[in-house]
Amino acid sequence: MVEFPVIFKQEHLIQMMPFPNPILLLLLLMPCVWGKCIFDEVQSSIRVLSPPDNRSSPSDWAFKEDDVKREVSVNEQEDWLTHVQIQNHQKAILQYSPSQRSKRMTRDRSNVIDKPQPIRIKTWTPRESPVLSQWETERLEAAVSDAINTVSKLLAVWRVNRKLLLSRDINKYCRFIWRNSSSANFNKCGRASDNYRTESCLGVTIPDDHLSGCVVYPHPDQTDLKVIKPDGVGIPDTDVLLYVKAQSTDKCRADSSVLAYSAHCQSNSEGRPVAGVMVICREPLSIEGFSHEHMVQTVIHELLHVLGFSKELFSKWTDRSLSSQIGMDSFSHGQVIYTDESGQMRLCTPNVNKALHTHLNTTHTDLGAPLENQDADSRGFSSHWEARVLQGSIMTAMLTEPALVRIDVITLSALQDTGWYSVNLSQAQNLLWGENEGAFFGSVSTCKRSSSFFCTGSGFGCHYLHLHKGVCQSDQYLEGCRIYKPLANGSECWKEENETGSGPEVWSGEIFRSDSRCFLSNIIKEAAVTDTGALERTGTRSR
Ligand SMILES: *[C@@H]1O[C@H](CO)[C@@H](O)[C@H](O)[C@H]1NC(C)=O
Ligand SMILES: *[C@@H]1O[C@H](CO)[C@@H](O)[C@H](O)[C@H]1NC(C)=O
Ligand SMILES: *[C@@H]1O[C@H](CO)[C@@H](O)[C@H](O)[C@H]1NC(C)=O
Ligand SMILES: *[C@@H]1O[C@H](CO)[C@@H](O)[C@H](O)[C@H]1NC(C)=O
Ligand SMILES: [Zn+2]
Repeated sequence: MVEFPVIFKQEHLIQMMPFPNPILLLLLLMPCVWGKCIFDEVQSSIRVLSPPDNRSSPSDWAFKEDDVKREVSVNEQEDWLTHVQIQNHQKAILQYSPSQRSKRMTRDRSNVIDKPQPIRIKTWTPRESPVLSQWETERLEAAVSDAINTVSKLLAVWRVNRKLLLSRDINKYCRFIWRNSSSANFNKCGRASDNYRTESCLGVTIPDDHLSGCVVYPHPDQTDLKVIKPDGVGIPDTDVLLYVKAQSTDKCRADSSVLAYSAHCQSNSEGRPVAGVMVICREPLSIEGFSHEHMVQTVIHELLHVLGFSKELFSKWTDRSLSSQIGMDSFSHGQVIYTDESGQMRLCTPNVNKALHTHLNTTHTDLGAPLENQDADSRGFSSHWEARVLQGSIMTAMLTEPALVRIDVITLSALQDTGWYSVNLSQAQNLLWGENEGAFFGSVSTCKRSSSFFCTGSGFGCHYLHLHKGVCQSDQYLEGCRIYKPLANGSECWKEENETGSGPEVWSGEIFRSDSRCFLSNIIKEAAVTDTGALERTGTRSR
């Protein structure tokens, strides 16, 4: 006998009897199309600027009494590398050499406050932003501010005690750079470019006030210089500056499922992103069916990309975990990305491995978290988690209904493993997808068997969290695996307004309340048998 999804409250499970011919319901309700993320495509078009290496004097680089401790750190790093030694079947893709990084991390040390402080993300409306109506502005500001509040509670940074000043691109303002390494002005600008105006990122003009100045040294060895642009006033009390504009751009128009996109444009001397742009597509912002939660979720997702969850930054991630215990600045990973025997690309950093290990309850301790292979570049890198394994995580490529999406501990662990943040892991939201399912959960070969997470066929059923009726479906990221996805309309169990007074409500005792859940059932109310007969006579299909 076929079962069908019905919304029940426990106390309403009275007066029911088996129903021989379940009715195929909800035929007209198509599954939703949700937000798609084009971050990788956007980020790869950006030339990210960081402060020129010659800004700090050589004395900033001197190793003092820390040198002895640094030796300890390197040894410990080697221990760790041995521990996560690349197994034969794994191919390390991204290796990192630690030397430069540990040197860099000592820079600006005098300016850094030792204890991480909550991250201060400031927004700025670029002057080329279109004029919005008052309600568009309200929606935009509410969504961005909710997203920033959420992220600010999760992340803390080592603040720098001065105003944020962004860099200028020497290749733009300069026509000629001194390249004789024995000259005093090595790598400095020799001649100004005539047509230099300012810096921009993703179509946003960065105001001069936000930018450091630039100078030229007309002679290779003399100290006299000419100021082309003075230092701007800088942005006070800011760790990250986000230029936010709402606009109907070509990228928005090209795909209506894109709600917003973003990129980071500048990083500091440690590689941490300090400035980025977020474009909110104006069309979804202005429509009648605008969903605040949906927009907040999209902005959080994009913001986490900007802050470091980006394939372009994997090679810059560093591990502070051991160093913090022994007062060190940093050391880096030996490997960040590897491909497993099935060809799945995995992100392999200590906290991510640990979180995934706990989540899947596997004995496979060195298992990295799988990256999405359906939006991967030629190297196989993606800035999203594999949807089959981490469905429902905020960092999968396609977001679903906000109530079903979690800022999960594996994502937060990845941010911790960037080395730029201290992350409050206790704020992670519980991801039930795949919990305790073991290392092979979600593989293309095992997902074809029906389980409490995957389904077969294309019938109706319950979304795995039992909060929605769903239909068994695949999508572009699931590679043939199928899951019950919520229907576009009326599938939420907790919404009383989903009661329409027809269908299963009449014959099954279905009831939509805040504490209702979706179950598969083949029972109906005794009193409803005649109603059901009437339904069948009016042509509703059964099977
Ligand atoms: C580089 O600079 C040094 C010192 O100013 C000078 O002696 C040398 O000739 C220069 N080399 C070249 C190739 O110009
Ligand atoms: C984790 O796996 C072990 C061994 O398979 C099992 O005994 C244990 O109950 C599992 N833990 C949870 C929370 O499911
Ligand atoms: C982390 O979050 C928890 C729960 O919100 C909070 O109680 C705790 O103080 C936070 N820890 C830090 C270090 O901010
Ligand atoms: C959902 O269904 C209700 C009632 O049938 C209808 O009023 C509403 O317009 C529908 N919404 C969407 C987005 O289709
Ligand atoms: Zn994304």
